[in-house]
Amino acid sequence: MIKKRDEIIEPGAPEVEATGEYAGFDDAAEAAKEQEARDRKAMEDKELPPDPDALLEVRHLKKYFPVAKSFTGKVTVWLRAVDDVSFKLKAGETLGIVGESGCGKTTLGRTVLKLIQPTDGQIFFEGQDIAGYKSSKMRPLRTKMQIIFQDPYSSLPPRSTVGGILSEPVRVHKIVPKDQVKDYVLDIMDKCGLRDYYYERYPHEFSGGQRQRICIARALTVNPKLVICDEPVSALDVSIQAQIINLLKSLQQNMGFTYLFISHDLSVVKHISDKIGVMYLGSMVEFGDKKSIFSNPLHPYTQALFSAVPNPNPDVKMHRIVLQGDIPSPSNPPKGCKFHTRCPVAKEICSHIAPVYREQEPGHFVACHCYPQE
Ligand SMILES: Nc1ncnc2c1ncn2[C@@H]1O[C@H](COP(=O)(O)OP(=O)(O)OP(=O)(O)O)[C@@H](O)[C@H]1O
Ligand code: SF4
Ligand SMILES: [Mg+2]
Repeated sequence: MIKKRDEIIEPGAPEVEATGEYAGFDDAAEAAKEQEARDRKAMEDKELPPDPDALLEVRHLKKYFPVAKSFTGKVTVWLRAVDDVSFKLKAGETLGIVGESGCGKTTLGRTVLKLIQPTDGQIFFEGQDIAGYKSSKMRPLRTKMQIIFQDPYSSLPPRSTVGGILSEPVRVHKIVPKDQVKDYVLDIMDKCGLRDYYYERYPHEFSGGQRQRICIARALTVNPKLVICDEPVSALDVSIQAQIINLLKSLQQNMGFTYLFISHDLSVVKHISDKIGVMYLGSMVEFGDKKSIFSNPLHPYTQALFSAVPNPNPDVKMHRIVLQGDIPSPSNPPKGCKFHTRCPVAKEICSHIAPVYREQEPGHFVACHCYPQE
């Protein structure tokens, strides 16, 4: 039986005193053993066929950046921006990815899209493992996978009109016959709440919210299946944020898009997502349906993050959990559980042995020693 959040967390509780059980424990040998077990699991999973129900299935995805080299050019320090992340996403669903700045959300999104090459792992898109695809092999898939960035100011070419910006991908990818391009673009503009006469205007003539609508329209022109939204509203005013989120939701309902929605704003993620993945220092620490994650967050990090989400019901007392300490560097993460340096319920085992990422209830995964590990 899984413990409910209130049973396992006492905000501000002091760390459990070391009993000495792990005194003299060989952390390096344990880390090597864990790595070996993870590699073995990844090898075993490689043999499994892709889930036919998933539009996107990511298995043991890793993206390491070299950050220091020896004088012979050998990499001496790797920054593990995405470290063994796995999840599945069905067509028409929205997966919200949350976590503090630097936890690897953007790198995960860019790696899934193959804008950067993964270090290891599998990325099944419509049943094909695209992880090893070269750019020429990715080209036909590019229209099916699009990205919307945080900053609508820098992501639009300043010298093209809105019509030019939106027509270009339609022409390049031959989405409709040449003589129908303008009508097609005007129709997409209408769906995104952009007036016809904007067609002749330039990006600098628009507000931030309107520019983000142009960016969304540009992503939609090629009729994608998967859209990665990387903090698409965090540069906008709160009132405009709601409009853009509602636009994304209605487009999804009408056109059946699948979203990977990256944000550090949990209220936004709660509003738009069907599933939620919580990342910490490059790892997925919890994953599940929105309902189970919000009603019963299992990981102490998720509990702390969610405790900061304002509750509209004035009768519900806020139970804020403030995490102590800074986020450690992903190039030198803490041994054992990466979260143990900030976890209010850390035990002695946590600083020596990494918890296994396991399914604790149907569809609800978590990596924490508070739950059964076998
Ligand atoms: N090209 C790169 N070279 C080296 N390190 C990188 C590179 N890109 C990202 N990183 C590092 O990878 C880690 C994850 O970065 P990422 O941008 O994915 O985080 P994020 O969760 O999107 O953060 P934010 O919420 O601030 O956007 C960070 O430590 C970052 O410094
Ligand atoms: S495994 Fe990590 S998250 Fe779980 S109690 Fe230990 S330190 Fe906290
Ligand atoms: Mg980011």
